Amino acid sequence: MNVEKAKRINKMFSSIAEKYDLLNTILSLNRDKSWRKFVAKLCIGECLDIATGTGELAFECLEYCNRVVGVDISEKMLKIAKEKSRKRNKTVTYVLGVAEKLPFKDKSFDCTTMAFALRNVSSIEDSIMEMVRVSRKKVIILEFSKPRNRIIREFYFKVYSRFIPIIGGLISKNKEAYEYLPNSIENFIERDDVIKIMEDSGLRNIKAYELTLGVVTVYVGEVS
Ligand SMILES: C[S@@+](CC[C@H](N)C(=O)[O-])C[C@H]1O[C@@H](n2cnc3c(N)ncnc32)[C@H](O)[C@@H]1O
Repeated sequence: MNVEKAKRINKMFSSIAEKYDLLNTILSLNRDKSWRKFVAKLCIGECLDIATGTGELAFECLEYCNRVVGVDISEKMLKIAKEKSRKRNKTVTYVLGVAEKLPFKDKSFDCTTMAFALRNVSSIEDSIMEMVRVSRKKVIILEFSKPRNRIIREFYFKVYSRFIPIIGGLISKNKEAYEYLPNSIENFIERDDVIKIMEDSGLRNIKAYELTLGVVTVYVGEVS
């Protein structure tokens, strides 16, 4: 695990935690909720939501699962998730921990989920291996991806992404974090690379669902 990257990422998310949900809604044009709902509908039984952040996916998963545990590297994000759980009367158990070395025994959960965090972890391979290790049935990953259509992709990275640091900076007061967002999406590995890592981690029947013109992709793999 790259401790320096983990520290940097933790610091960045902690600094934007208060405005994270609002900016997600604005910058995704409110699509983020339907993306998480798509993931939640695939969940079953006992679920571990890795990099749970402010708990939005964990809350959705509660609709379809018996028990949901959320784990995150950032205490600040978890604090907000806990406050939201209390206010909304949603029972999620929160644990401080890292995706690369999960504090759970093998096969502790029916499924594991991770939304918008694969770009941020210090090792994609270790994180997916850990998801497989603690899952009995399914691994589900939601991540930004590059739209396949050239015109949409150009618009997304050359026009829309210029507004992200401006809006993000104004609202969160951390422009750097919102410069990182489009850069990390553009520099992220391709869909086929994610699928290959999932295969190499022992997952089978891997499916990739492209949502909203391919702006995000949901990857689902079965644990053998
Ligand atoms: C973009 S947010 C996504 C939050 C949430 N999953 C959602 O759907 O909104 C990324 C989250 O990943 C967490 N994170 C980043 N690196 C992590 C790591 N190595 N282990 C655990 N959590 C991590 C951050 O603290 C942050 O809460």
